[in-house]
Amino acid sequence: MASAIAAGDGRRRLQVALGVRAYAIHIGPGLLDDPALLRPQIVASQVLIVSNETIAPLYLARVQATLAGYHLGSVILPDGEAYKDLTHLNLIFDALLTQRCGRDCTIVALGGGVVGDMAGFAAACYQRGVAFIQIPTTLLAQVDSSVGGKTGVNHPAGKNMIGAFHQPRAVIADTDTLNTLPPRELAAGFAEVIKYGLIRDPDFFSWLERHSTRLCAREPALLAEAIARSCRNKAEVVGADEFEAGQRALLNLGHTFGHAIEAGMGYGTWLHGEAVAAGMAMAADLSWRLGWLEAAALERIRRVITAFGLPVDPPAELPAARWLELMAVDKKVQAGVLRLVLLRGIGAAVVTADFPAGHLRATLDGCLQAAAGVSSTASRAPAGE
Ligand code: NAD
Ligand code: GLY
Repeated sequence: MASAIAAGDGRRRLQVALGVRAYAIHIGPGLLDDPALLRPQIVASQVLIVSNETIAPLYLARVQATLAGYHLGSVILPDGEAYKDLTHLNLIFDALLTQRCGRDCTIVALGGGVVGDMAGFAAACYQRGVAFIQIPTTLLAQVDSSVGGKTGVNHPAGKNMIGAFHQPRAVIADTDTLNTLPPRELAAGFAEVIKYGLIRDPDFFSWLERHSTRLCAREPALLAEAIARSCRNKAEVVGADEFEAGQRALLNLGHTFGHAIEAGMGYGTWLHGEAVAAGMAMAADLSWRLGWLEAAALERIRRVITAFGLPVDPPAELPAARWLELMAVDKKVQAGVLRLVLLRGIGAAVVTADFPAGHLRATLDGCLQAAAGVSSTASRAPAGE
């Protein structure tokens, strides 16, 4: 369904099989400058490139050169998760209207997950839907957010609470752009990479365990392999469940805890990937308390997250009661009941509401104590019920 084709020049191409909405994911070096990938995806003559104040000075001119001859406009957003909101979304609509973009315009998202989610949501809404193309420039965006058509913005009460499904026409992931990515942002991207291993691909998880040092050192061939394997996993899940009626929810491993960290600490304080990393360790902790995950597997998970420079403990500042409030604002809540993605083993995730509240509370208390410096063995004593 989503097999990767590797060409001799280091390029790979995968397909997201979604019938009339099917599209290709291109992965490799030098793709920003390749007109053969980008130009055929432009619908008519008008193009609006959405980027931000950090990425535009690095890469906008190259994309503009690749699109020479089209009626090009651009909108440069302020940089940061704190601006992923309805107020700043309006900057894109202002640009579309000022530049008199019609229904046949194409929006190009050039940036990380924040730019991609906002540009995609604008594309979903503008004149009830226009075409868009993802050019992801962070590891996180190349392995996750650019693929699958989830778009949207945050609300102070909850992460990604306002949005739409809207698939791109293509994803063009130029791996050279990762050379300018700050180390903390690279690490954040690895959280979503590890996620695929944990939810459905145990061989990939073992591969990540073996190659963490070389991946953190940005060895190009290994990074491309990690991106392609991640995208293959994502494309298979999305191809089977585009609108998250079932298995797509597994892609949210660690996200209910993680979204609580992001909203509770203030958007941008913890990076999304950092919050997901700690969230996955918390989901693993709860799975262990339920007797679903071996202690050795829990330790492997914590070790691999740490090896990629990511946190396994949540911020100590948020009290447990606040966590429960924040976690109640989650798209997986059904009829008021919280559902979580938990692990029955490495590579075997489930979505479930089948956990006693006391066990969740024990995970929160144990992880918060560990974060506050109480010995992690003591703080992970088994739950009382
Ligand atoms: P981001 O978009 O904020 O980018 C991280 C930082 O790196 C920013 O400061 C950005 O300006 C900078 N940057 C981007 N590319 C760069 C480059 N090549 N060189 C130097 N700097 C660069 O963060 P992110 O981690 O890419 O994305 C996180 C967002 O993605 C969150 O809002 C999250 O909710 C969302 N997300 C969405 C999905 C989805 O399915 N739609 C999935 C996962 C995450
Ligand atoms: N990042 C979760 C999803 O795309 O479903």
